[in-house]
Amino acid sequence: MIGEERLWQVGANAWVVVDDQDVRAERVGQAMVTLGVTDLDEILARLAAHGISHEPVETYSNGVRHVVVLDPDGNSLSLAEAPAGPDLVPMTWLTDTRNVYDAVASRYADETRDLLDRLLHVRAGVVLFADLVRAIGGGPVADVGCGPGHTTALLRELGADAFGIDLSPAMIEIARREHPGARFEIGSMTDLQLADDSLAGVLAWWSLIYIPDEAVPGVLRHFHRVLRPGGVLAVGFHVGDVSKIDTSGDGDQAVQAYVHHRQPSRVADWLREAGFTVEAQHLLNPDEPKPRAILFARRPATPSR
Ligand SMILES: C[S@@+](CC[C@H](N)C(=O)[O-])C[C@H]1O[C@@H](n2cnc3c(N)ncnc32)[C@H](O)[C@@H]1O
Repeated sequence: MIGEERLWQVGANAWVVVDDQDVRAERVGQAMVTLGVTDLDEILARLAAHGISHEPVETYSNGVRHVVVLDPDGNSLSLAEAPAGPDLVPMTWLTDTRNVYDAVASRYADETRDLLDRLLHVRAGVVLFADLVRAIGGGPVADVGCGPGHTTALLRELGADAFGIDLSPAMIEIARREHPGARFEIGSMTDLQLADDSLAGVLAWWSLIYIPDEAVPGVLRHFHRVLRPGGVLAVGFHVGDVSKIDTSGDGDQAVQAYVHHRQPSRVADWLREAGFTVEAQHLLNPDEPKPRAILFARRPATPSR
């Protein structure tokens, strides 16, 4: 978000909004493209050096600085700069993540088709999750952020009534094609379209890593809401303290999203705050540069007082 306008992020420092407000149409034509920028003054100075002038810079009540650039070609362009502040961080991470996984879906599916035969500790986590679900009498299980569906398929082989949900339509298309017996739906863990108390288990395997810190508690509350009392949650993630940009493609085709690495204690605290009991913490590859972790948690069978 920049001010009150929703923008598409098109680069590390650039966002776009296409605006068809009448007031602007009078001034600049049918529609105006606004680029959200940082360093507005520097950009205006660079444009001026090329003989491109602009209307006076306006500062809105919310602190956004906005300017219409007088493009010599007659095109309509404006630039907007948000004031610095945590409330004005662009909310584009869901779109960014979807774009990344739509772009890499086919390659990711090829690379991960036999992943669980190679990563036996991760596979053991899936098996343990299936056992824990069976121990409470079974029931529907959601693989949230299922990607091309290999984990959903293993869960079904293990006897779980599993279905997959993923943000990326390209991933879901592949999952449906490769695992025609299973149900896969497009959806986001930030807005799970599932009834309260409807699931015996939720498994989120390296998908919460795309959710920024401020949105994690809301996602975990969704998981808690859709699990029935006694239901099981398993979360797999990269261990660390950094957020790294994950880029795919080149030039105009480049897409990128942040991957958040976290300490297990931090994720465990978030789980407890959301109402879960943490039952186990598996640390994988602690001697390697990229450790991973799986946390097993449960929605308590009876609410704690
Ligand atoms: C690293 S892949 C993991 C895929 C699969 N779970 C696995 O273990 O191989 C991350 C997946 O999470 C999905 N994802 C990211 N954010 C999501 C969200 N908000 N809701 C649902 N899926 C999401 C991505 O589209 C992608 O398919």
